[in-house]
Amino acid sequence: MHGLSQLGRAARVILVGAPGVGKGTQTARLMKRFPQLSSLSSGDLLRENVRQQTPLGILAESKMKAGVLVPDAMMLRLILNEATKRGWAEREPRMPYTLSCTTSNLSTSSMEDMTAPPTFSQYTYSDNPNSSFILDGFPRTVSQASQIDNLIPINLVVYLNTPVNAIMERIMNRWVHAPSGRVYNMTFNPPKVPGKDDATGEALTRRDDDDPEVWKSRLRQFERTSLPLLDHYSKKGVLWTVNGNSSDEISPQLIKEFEKRFGMGQSS
Ligand code: AP5
Ligand code: MG
Repeated sequence: MHGLSQLGRAARVILVGAPGVGKGTQTARLMKRFPQLSSLSSGDLLRENVRQQTPLGILAESKMKAGVLVPDAMMLRLILNEATKRGWAEREPRMPYTLSCTTSNLSTSSMEDMTAPPTFSQYTYSDNPNSSFILDGFPRTVSQASQIDNLIPINLVVYLNTPVNAIMERIMNRWVHAPSGRVYNMTFNPPKVPGKDDATGEALTRRDDDDPEVWKSRLRQFERTSLPLLDHYSKKGVLWTVNGNSSDEISPQLIKEFEKRFGMGQSS
């Protein structure tokens, strides 16, 4: 089995790919290999808000069920709010080694706040390898990307490129542990006990948007927004594309690229 790898410099990575391409799967594998990485999945965060029926969750629910994107301003607010909670962002520009931004109305507790874009005045970001992260599913539009560019300079954008016809069947076999976002597949990576999460033993469920028609709509949405997004990052010189028919083909390439760009040798 593979050992653990250390990061020599901060990785600020986003994953871009069609619905079901394996963004969540690759994120989990990278985190196993590089323990300094944290991750944030915009979809998981939205689903958590839907589960808790927060004002933002209530607004997002119908969009997600229809397979269309949640409005940019809401997404940015949600992600920044989470980044602040995790110490990646600071409302007061005090700590030199974290992303630091002065924002107004970051709270997601009132309807009014969520539709206005958040405003920023000052920020710094960390180059400490322990502040490394993967964003799975955010940014998804050029507008989201441009706004995050001003706060956190992303230093690698991974485009996971898998033929679409390989993907739909996976989605139909996907089961998730809703509270954690852990993902299973009845053939590819089944749970140890059928229907139960490996870590907690709790029940697995199906995602509301994993219906063939909704998946097609998510795919169309991806096809509309991904090209301009990838182009945006290509111009910045941070885009790297990985091709493969399955996650098992992609993972070794991805780990090698991480080692090359951010690694500093093996420990164990
Ligand atoms: P989100 O949750 O991000 O969904 P998505 O992009 O459609 O991607 P998925 O999570 O479905 O797939 P994945 O690539 O993570 O694949 P996975 O690893 O699970 O977003 C949901 C919704 O939220 C959006 O539609 C939108 O409404 C909203 N949203 C989110 N972010 C937004 C943003 N930034 N702006 C606006 N709106 C936003 O793998 C899939 C399955 O395949 C699993 O079962 C897995 O086990 C299996 N699998 C993986 N590899 C293999 C393999 N090699 N062989 C067989 N099965 C495999
Ligand atoms: Mg996912």
